[in-house]
Amino acid sequence: MRNITKLAIVGLALGGITSVNAQDKIDFEKEIYPMVKKSCVKCHLPEHEDERGRKRKPKGGHVMTTKVGLMESEGEEGEKFIVPGDSKKSRILQVTLLPIDDEMHFPPEGKADQWTKTQQALFAKWVDAGADFGSWTEDKNAIADIAAKK
Ligand code: HEC
Repeated sequence: MRNITKLAIVGLALGGITSVNAQDKIDFEKEIYPMVKKSCVKCHLPEHEDERGRKRKPKGGHVMTTKVGLMESEGEEGEKFIVPGDSKKSRILQVTLLPIDDEMHFPPEGKADQWTKTQQALFAKWVDAGADFGSWTEDKNAIADIAAKK
């Protein structure tokens, strides 16, 4: 009887730990992409024609509305935008952490909302945990959503 009670307690404790971990898992689509969309995407949309029919290219050639774009983009010195498991090497995080007056700081001052320290920490945590995009591959509404905000 005593052993059964012990087992039950261990079982409850393990159950508790598992559910905490599940809650800790960062959801890219719900928690990370919205801050990318708010601060970065207006300059890093895929190539498209704007409302006046002008061709618009992603700044620096970097598309941030697709998983492929985020994973394959590299900075001028070949730094990967995202290095799963290593937020310090991830160029996206580096540029937001540079001094605001550095020409490589993004977003440029006054052009979009800066990431807060909390957002930077969340992004770092997501990268360090392996940069799991879940089932997300692309924001198909990005061009229309950004145009609607102008
Ligand atoms: C107002 C427009 C604008 C916004 C907003 C913007 N960027 Fe950029 N970004 C650029 C331009 C322009 C370049 C190309 C710069 C160059 O090659 O000199 C660039 C290049 C980059 C690079 C490549 C840096 C390198 O080492 O070559 C990264 C990384 C980047 N942006 C990340 C971001 C992130 C992350 C955000 C949002 C937090 C963001 N950008 C928001 C305009 C923008």
